Amino acid sequence: MRVLGVESSCDETGLAVYDTGRGLLAHAVHTQVAMHAEYGGVVPELASRDHIRRITPLTRTVLAEAGLTLADLDAVAYTQGPGLAGALLVGAGFATALAAALGLPAIGVHHLEGHLLSPLLATPRPAFPFIALLVSGGHTQLMRVDGVGRYQLLGETLDDAAGEAFDKTAQLLGLGYPGGPALAALAQTGEAKRFRLPRPMLRSGDLEFSFAGLKTAVLTLSKKEGAAARADIAAGFQAAVVDVLAGKSLAALEQTGLARLVVAGGVGANRALRARLDAEAALRGYEVFYPPLELCTDNGAMIAYAGALRLQAGMAAADGRFSVRPRWDLAELAAV
Ligand code: KG4
Ligand code: ZN
Repeated sequence: MRVLGVESSCDETGLAVYDTGRGLLAHAVHTQVAMHAEYGGVVPELASRDHIRRITPLTRTVLAEAGLTLADLDAVAYTQGPGLAGALLVGAGFATALAAALGLPAIGVHHLEGHLLSPLLATPRPAFPFIALLVSGGHTQLMRVDGVGRYQLLGETLDDAAGEAFDKTAQLLGLGYPGGPALAALAQTGEAKRFRLPRPMLRSGDLEFSFAGLKTAVLTLSKKEGAAARADIAAGFQAAVVDVLAGKSLAALEQTGLARLVVAGGVGANRALRARLDAEAALRGYEVFYPPLELCTDNGAMIAYAGALRLQAGMAAADGRFSVRPRWDLAELAAV
């Protein structure tokens, strides 16, 4: 079974073809980062218009790369939410129309379910059940995952998401937008121990997070220390975020008695976080799984894959109607 995946929830247009027998056949992403950079953040109307421009050519690209035509597809999966309403509508409209024209089912996928299942696209694959640390620009959550559609929220951020904290801190340090990768690169050259930044809620005893205070601490520090201390501040900030994310992930494993941790979402690309989790896991006999690096940030492959799993599990509605859900809690997803 071959599923075309369409991702358009924010500022990346992602298309992919996943084959349930052969795996991922092709995927392509167009990122709008350069277009939004001059505004310091995503401009929703510009995002929607750019998705419209990219979606058809990218579909042709992935089909050609996979050596397929539209007639070879068995279903079309698209990101139904959460995300920007206009951007979601482009992908949903395109996918539903294409599916209707081909007489195929159109499958609405939850964006976070895509991220959550994306480590299953790597080898070795984690077996269920596992703990998932979802760290993206919009979300920071710890979930217990027992199977496709069976997710239990264990804790989440009370304010900023981890990626948002990276982006806002990068902006404070004059690194532009989106600053996560740039901040991580600068941190590499700094001395993390020079400034001791707070580890918000690390000892709160629950699995909730908070990152807004950290950003304020960076603001105060960078005003006091000036541009010369930028790399050390970046390193101190990254160390604080890594401490909190690793500490809470280990606590989740301990509390649930599970031994597998899956890391998903854009911040999962962070090398310091990966090194720390790998080291802690090795000490304690846990296993950590990551998606392939290029599938950490938004992409169509994870949507095609989640759509295929839902279709196989008989969990995909195909009545030709569509709606988008800009705000959509993952916990509301129907179980198998
Ligand atoms: O999952 P994603 O592509 O989009 C959302 O659904 O939000 O995540 C994007 C986020 C951004 O905040 C970006 O700055 C962050 O992931 N990010 C990183 C790194 N690469 C991307 N943060 C820290 N270190 C990185 N290497
Ligand atoms: Zn995402």
